[in-house]
Amino acid sequence: MNMMRDFESKDGIMSIGGMSTVDLAERFGTPVYVCDEARIRENYRNIYKAFSRYMNTKIHYACKANTNLAILRILEQEGAGIDAVSIGEVKTCLKAGFTPDRIMYTGVNVSDKELKEVAELGVMINIDSVSEMERLAEISPQHEISFRITPGVGSGHSAKVITGSKGAKFGIPLDEVISTYARAKDLGFKIKGIHAHIGSGGQSVEPFLDMIQVLIEIVNELKELGIDLEFIDMGGGIGVPYKPQEDEMDLNELASEITDLIEQETDIKTLILEPGRYIVCDAVVLLTRVNDVKDAGTKKYVGCDAGFNTLIRPAFYDSFHYVTIANKFGKACTDRFEVVGPICESGDYLAHDRVLPEPQVGDIVAVYNAGAYGFSMSSNYNSRPLCAEVLVNDGKADLIREPETIEELWRHQIIPQRLM
Ligand code: LLP
Repeated sequence: MNMMRDFESKDGIMSIGGMSTVDLAERFGTPVYVCDEARIRENYRNIYKAFSRYMNTKIHYACKANTNLAILRILEQEGAGIDAVSIGEVKTCLKAGFTPDRIMYTGVNVSDKELKEVAELGVMINIDSVSEMERLAEISPQHEISFRITPGVGSGHSAKVITGSKGAKFGIPLDEVISTYARAKDLGFKIKGIHAHIGSGGQSVEPFLDMIQVLIEIVNELKELGIDLEFIDMGGGIGVPYKPQEDEMDLNELASEITDLIEQETDIKTLILEPGRYIVCDAVVLLTRVNDVKDAGTKKYVGCDAGFNTLIRPAFYDSFHYVTIANKFGKACTDRFEVVGPICESGDYLAHDRVLPEPQVGDIVAVYNAGAYGFSMSSNYNSRPLCAEVLVNDGKADLIREPETIEELWRHQIIPQRLM
């Protein structure tokens, strides 16, 4: 089983995709997200293979994790489908070359305007509520649909990302599922499948199996009512190791047990998965420069140029991201440090209480596992422009997102004439 990904070192400097992280930081500036193309392809193939050896499988990349167009191109080339949650994600994926039939839209609290736009683009809609179904029936009555149900099973790395528990804001509550499918049939929809997502970043197989049991029961009940489904979509949520000694979830166990249940207990022929984190997380490191070092008596601070504007996960979820000093890779650690950013809040941190080699101004800190919900959740807080993204492959680097400029922060603002 795999543990947290480690990186190669050349002359004491961490490298990624055959490139020195120090050279990358120098050439593209910091902070910068650096994405390793080969690793994305490898992750995609791993998860596809794990399931497709047992059953016809479609991997719908949950693009909310990372919507960079170049990364989407890689996954388009690999043959992935897409899980999109907004019209913005749908259009971004179309721009990246996905055809509408490869995209499934799973919105929550969706407006009529957005439903109409998605429907007109010919994208399958995974309906989240009875109201959404009734509204879609007015807009596109014969649309291809499935339903997101609330399985009553939740899992995740933080309470903020558990989505499947009873009473959650997502999905059709269990006691309304059968009547909702029956209504959808009467309305004339092309009903294709059933979907649930228990949450994100869970580390154990059991909740997935519990959720699949719930879906299987519904599939069989629907069959008795003459509603035959083509697919089960088990959502995303497969966790990855963020800590050095942590094991990866056993994908083979997950795949064999889930597909076994489906094959033994239903006539369903297709399984859909929506991994986001699994595909992109460990393919990306965030490089950030040390701007300042401070001994505050009780704590020592390494002050970097990336804060929660660039990577919000530690501040928002208390998430652990492994950090290292990329230009002192493998060097002996001297002390414990708080790795913090340039945002004017005490909650602005990247890593808490870490042993590191003696840090100095100008060092490059690498933050691991930054590919999922890293850039995509970054913000302009404190009027800091969004940072660059770079794609590395086989010793070459391409800029895949220019860093924003300060001038661009003003581009949509209007000062009324009377204030001039
Ligand atoms: N499918 C649906 C319907 C989802 O809502 C999500 C994630 C996924 C798939 C993909 O989940 P994944 O495989 O990436 O765990 N910002 C949080 C994660 C929020 C996930 C939201 N939904 C984080 O930084 O951990």
